[in-house]
Amino acid sequence: MERTLSIIKPDAVKKNVVGEIISRFEKNGLRIAAMKKIWMTKEEAKGFYIVHKDRPFYDSLTDFMSEGPIVVMVLEGENAIAKNREIMGATNPANAAPGTIRKDFAENIERNAVHGSDAPETAAFEIGYFFSSLEIL
Ligand code: CMP
Repeated sequence: MERTLSIIKPDAVKKNVVGEIISRFEKNGLRIAAMKKIWMTKEEAKGFYIVHKDRPFYDSLTDFMSEGPIVVMVLEGENAIAKNREIMGATNPANAAPGTIRKDFAENIERNAVHGSDAPETAAFEIGYFFSSLEIL
């Protein structure tokens, strides 16, 4: 059993496709262990994406991630990190495989509908950023 942090980003929340995205996780065997809808401040978005602080897209990415509500989830299942990344598709929707979330809902490499942890260490940091242990069931 593994846990990963999933975010439905402001672009996808605005499009009203939260349910469609969540059902893809469930149909692929991932279980929602925690979930909430929040609206991050710019500072909170900067803290979440601190690993990207030196990238040229950091300012624009954190503006985007704080422009509206997001849905954050802890997904649980066998190989949850890799499975979630497979369901999401490539970061750039132009390279995402057919049937993936990003192919179907993302606008571009930045406004790419969903986020998922990329390794166990980042999953631990990202889950702890949004949820306390009492909120993960
Ligand atoms: P995510 O999986 O949340 O991880 C970092 C995010 O930065 C990524 O999805 C995109 O939203 C964004 N991102 C990554 N690469 C670029 C890029 N070259 N230009 C703009 N945004 C990017």
